[in-house]
This record gives sequence, structure tokens and C-alpha cells, in this order.
Amino acid sequence: MKGFFGDFGGMFVPETLVPALEQLEREFNMLKDDPEFKKDLARYSTTYIGRPSPVYYASRMSEEYGVEIYLKREDLNHTGSHKINNTIAQALLTRYMGKKRIIAETGAGQHGVATATVAALFGLDCTVYMGAVDAARQKPNVDRMKLLGAKLELVHDGSKTLKDATNAAMRDWVKNVEDTHYIIGSVIGPHPFPEMVAHFQSVIGREARASFKEMGFLPDAVVACVGGGSNAIGIFKGFLDTSCELYGIEAGGLSDNEGDHAMAIGKGRAGILHGCVTYLVQTADGQVADVHSIAAGLDYPGIGPEHSYLHGTGRVTYDKVRDEDAVFAFRELARREGIVPAVESSHAIAYVLKNKDKFKGRKVLINLSGRGDKDSERDI
Ligand SMILES: Cc1ncc(COP(=O)(O)O)c(C=O)c1O
Repeated sequence: MKGFFGDFGGMFVPETLVPALEQLEREFNMLKDDPEFKKDLARYSTTYIGRPSPVYYASRMSEEYGVEIYLKREDLNHTGSHKINNTIAQALLTRYMGKKRIIAETGAGQHGVATATVAALFGLDCTVYMGAVDAARQKPNVDRMKLLGAKLELVHDGSKTLKDATNAAMRDWVKNVEDTHYIIGSVIGPHPFPEMVAHFQSVIGREARASFKEMGFLPDAVVACVGGGSNAIGIFKGFLDTSCELYGIEAGGLSDNEGDHAMAIGKGRAGILHGCVTYLVQTADGQVADVHSIAAGLDYPGIGPEHSYLHGTGRVTYDKVRDEDAVFAFRELARREGIVPAVESSHAIAYVLKNKDKFKGRKVLINLSGRGDKDSERDI
């Protein structure tokens, strides 16, 4: 069925949004293979984002842990994370659709910064919704968004985090759909967003695969952190057709107790969130549960529907890392390699360090989805 990954996905939205989603689907299907659009996107990718991002062999970490650790350096992208791959592409789509205003939700602020950046680049009006709790813990990004000229709407509903920011952005979109495009920041939401965002992020996997081809071998395993799941899907797409083991790492937070973690697959059940059927963390009576992660970008009760499907097929293994292990990895990469990772990406690093016996002597590719400037001012 269109827009579904097995039993997951779909387009469960208010009627007012259906024409906008259908227009988006049409434009995306038309433009994704259009030579002009591809040329535009490739030009911005190289000259503005700085792609391709390299694969770096972390030799000191590798020696210390007995695992060959390779990092895909999405932290080196302009604005400091993989989020810019998607926002540049969607901003181009916005221009092709003739819309003048973009809105976005943000957790860690990286998607908000990436959206504010492309709004400045293309002269679009921009509003970013952010939970008040996230704004307090990611202040450098709040300041950057304002500097870039975006209007920041702090959200005080619910847990004041990413889910609530997404709700607020959806409400804005329903009201202003005529002239506004909603740049969703992950592989979540109604069709065609999960498919479209994955397509724009698949550049990560394609480039990583090409880097390994040059080195003459493949990694044994690929590991990425999972919030909504866009950096993970992006890198997995380059290796789905190989025998590489694939690992998606969810936020284990403080404990397995409800409210202490954000494990949509590890602890969730199928339900509907933000316009699609997917795994999400729920209370006993089926409400969306409160979630927690030290990483604002992973603090989301759901997960992209394609991940729910990949979990079902067994092609990808989903596991967890606790807050304290992510903080250890955050410091460890800084001290051993001179790279300060985003606390989100630190979950993927921590998984490899914690499981060094399982990965002993093997080649492991970790997606370093972003840099940790936004986190290095925090007391973590
Ligand atoms: C650096 C970084 N990594 C990962 C994520 C999680 O998002 P996703 O799972 O869509 O890659 C975020 C979200 O804000 C982020 O900023």
C-alpha cells in the first residue's frame, strides 16, 4: 500500500492537510530524478554543506578498545549535523512549490538551526517550534536560530520537548498550509515525509559505501543513534544490500521504567503518532507516554515507520544505551580523538565501547551525526 513499510507508515492527518501532502508527494516524485533539481542539490551539497563528508579511522580509540572504529563525519557539515542534508533539499522543494514560508520543529536545535540557515539562504520566512525544556538545555542553538533570523516559538505544552514542538508545528501547518511548507526533521510524520527524508539522507550511506570501496573492504557493522531515525536510515541505506550488521541505538535514558527512557522499539507498541502508524512509547491505557533522554534529539516517543518495519524483518537490530554511558563516550571521543560529538551521536559510540567484546577485532562504522558544541557548555 502506498506510503506503507509493511504494516507501518500511512497518512493519518486532518483533511485540510491531504492536498498539501499530495502536492508534496507529486513534486517530490517529479523532482527527485529531475536533472535540474539534482544538479541544484549537488551544487549546494558541495559548495554550501561541504560534502562529501569523510570517513575517519579513529586509531587511538581503536587501539584502546580493540575494535577498528571508523566515523562517518556528518559533524563536519555546515551547521554541524546531518540535518542540513534534508533541509537544503526540502527548501529547494519549497521554492519549486512556490511557497514562501517554512516551519519546523526541533529538539536538539540542530534541525532548527539547519532550517533557519536554509531560510536565510533562500530568503524564506521561517518559524521554528521548540519545547521550552529543550530550549533551556540547547541554548547555543537557540541563539544561533535567532541570529539567522528565524522566529522561535517556545512550546510550553506537555513535557515541553520534541513531541510537543511537533504538535505545535502541525497545528501551524493546518492553519497556514496554503503558503507554508513544513520541513519535518526526521523520517517521521505522514507519507511522503518518511520516504522523502530518507531519500535525502541516503547520501550519507552512499558516500560511506564509496569510501569503503576505495579502502577495498566493507565494515562488519554499522551503528547509528535513533531519535526519529533519519541519520540511521541515511547510513543504513548504503549497506542494506550487504551482509554488514546494522544497529540502531535508542535512548535508554535513566532506566527501563516508563518516563525514564525513549525506547520506541525497545519498550513501545504500535500506534499512531504524528500522522503515521509506528512503534511508540505508550502508557498502559494507550496514551503517548512521557519520555526522557539526556539527548534532546533522541527525546521523542516515536520512531520512523521504516525502522518499525526493519525491526520486524530483523535486518536491523535495535538496542539501547543509557544516559551515563553516552556521557562517558562523549568525553572519551573528545579526549582520545580531539572530536567533541553531539550527545545524540555519543549513544552510537557508547554502544560500541560497551560491546567491545562483541565487536573485538572487527571493523565498525559509526555515524557521527553531529558535533557537540551545543552540548559542551552543558554540565554533563
Ligand atoms: C546530532 C543529532 N543526531 C541525531 C539526532 C536524532 O535525529 P535522527 O534520529 O532523525 O537522526 C539529532 C536530532 O536532533 C541530532 O541533532
